[in-house]
Amino acid sequence: MKQATGKVISNEQILKELERPGARTILGSWLLWLECPEIAHEARPGQFVMVVCGSESFLPRPFSIHQVKGDNLALFFAAYEDGKGTTWLSQVKVASKIGLLGPLGNGFSIYPGSHNLLLVAGGIGIAPLYFLATQALNHSHEVKLILGASGAFKPSGEPNPVQHYPEELLPRGIEIETITTSPDGMTGNVVELIPGHVSWADQVFACGPLPMYKTMAQMPELKGKQVQVSLEVVMGCGRGVCYGCTIKTKSGLKRVCEHGPVFHLDDILWDEFTLKS
Ligand SMILES: Cc1cc2nc3c(=O)[nH]c(=O)nc-3n(C[C@H](O)[C@H](O)[C@H](O)COP(=O)(O)OP(=O)(O)OC[C@H]3O[C@@H](n4cnc5c(N)ncnc54)[C@H](O)[C@@H]3O)c2cc1C
Ligand code: FES
Repeated sequence: MKQATGKVISNEQILKELERPGARTILGSWLLWLECPEIAHEARPGQFVMVVCGSESFLPRPFSIHQVKGDNLALFFAAYEDGKGTTWLSQVKVASKIGLLGPLGNGFSIYPGSHNLLLVAGGIGIAPLYFLATQALNHSHEVKLILGASGAFKPSGEPNPVQHYPEELLPRGIEIETITTSPDGMTGNVVELIPGHVSWADQVFACGPLPMYKTMAQMPELKGKQVQVSLEVVMGCGRGVCYGCTIKTKSGLKRVCEHGPVFHLDDILWDEFTLKS
């Protein structure tokens, strides 16, 4: 883990504003490339960085390491209408410098003998899975990605712009299936696609909102399967000091920032999960 400075190489908005029924409006989603060799050289898929978003007076924010190329790393983040840190980050300009701490946490593990990997991304969940996909392809694994998006319609009933991560930016060589939520939010969830792929997969890796994990934990198709999930909870310090990210697991209390953010799906006591995520 290092305290480092990232120099902004590019900061591009790749998804438009998204109004979501019953949830915070997303102002857009950005792909931010930073030159930061200290962290880029050590990072593993599933790890994250704490980013000082503008002012030392508010806490750094956690973001997954989305991609790594040589000395550079990318973050993919959504900026929220009420989000001080993410709004600031969406406005950073090329050549400016940003304070970072990382790489933090324990990432995804691909087990020896696993060949077929199923990746499930709900919401902004492609953020940590992209890096995993590129590393898996480099090691000749087969990768399928189920990519979901919420909010096909605005609360007013008008259609929202399409909110899937652009396919042309995804790594080549993976099989992709996308799904968009219906206007009432009742159908079109990524979890609906899991049963169609699960028997093919040696391992499943997921990142998405808490209700997605709670549904997955109940799915008979996933019982006995190796499923790793990345938790995106609200964090304080990001390095095991404040205990603000503590969750209950079958093997006792765990801090998401230190023991996670990646956990086995069936290790977490989902009924007792109280953190905001
Ligand atoms: C390990 C980890 C990795 C993450 N990776 C990514 C990533 O790659 N891309 C990405 O877009 N996001 C990611 N997140 C979520 C991201 O950290 C939050 O969206 C961000 O901290 C919000 O900061 P803000 O300044 O915009 O909002 P704030 O100003 O901090 O908060 C505004 C309001 O939103 C609430 N809030 C803050 N964070 C969340 C949240 N996560 N869920 C629900 N309500 C919240 C606050 O309590 C407050 O009421 C990750 C989180 C974790 C823990
Ligand atoms: S965020 Fe402080 S202990 Fe995890």
